[in-house]
Amino acid sequence: MANPIAAWHQEHAYFNRLLALLQREMDVFHAGGSPDYQLMLDIITYLREYGDHSHHPREDEAFRRLLRHCPERALPIARLQQEHRVIAHAGEALREMLESVVADGVVQRAEVEMAAATYLVYYGNHIAREEEDVLPRAAKHLSAEDWQAVKEAAPAVRDPLFGPEPAQRFQELRRRIAA
Ligand SMILES: [Fe+2]
Ligand SMILES: [Fe+2]
Repeated sequence: MANPIAAWHQEHAYFNRLLALLQREMDVFHAGGSPDYQLMLDIITYLREYGDHSHHPREDEAFRRLLRHCPERALPIARLQQEHRVIAHAGEALREMLESVVADGVVQRAEVEMAAATYLVYYGNHIAREEEDVLPRAAKHLSAEDWQAVKEAAPAVRDPLFGPEPAQRFQELRRRIAA
């Protein structure tokens, strides 16, 4: 990994872009319009697949290694680890909700609104805290050996949305991001 901090930061920028796109659909929703539920489902599916299964396991490993150098950060780091579980759980609930909206066309507006708003705020704050608290410390303390272990903490999959060859099912989302 050429520059693991830059790569880490880049993924956060990508995730923030997706959260902003999700927020924009929610704004349509607030205004009484019909958001693009398929797009919302694609976003959350990607964040479940790549965020929860690649980004977060690598972070958990980085956190564990960082704690050896910064034991005084035990509490905030434990919170971030717990938030990974909450994000996965809340994301799955939202994904299932959107999947059934796309399949049946029936929308429980209040429920979708609550689930999406909670997810957006929670995830946005989580990323901001990692950027402020964790990345600078990781840059300072983690060794090449640590970074190798971080890399190996998740299966070596290519990013199916932002990678060089986006997966078929994310091509529409990729096009929307580029627009
Ligand atoms: Fe995280
Ligand atoms: Fe993160």
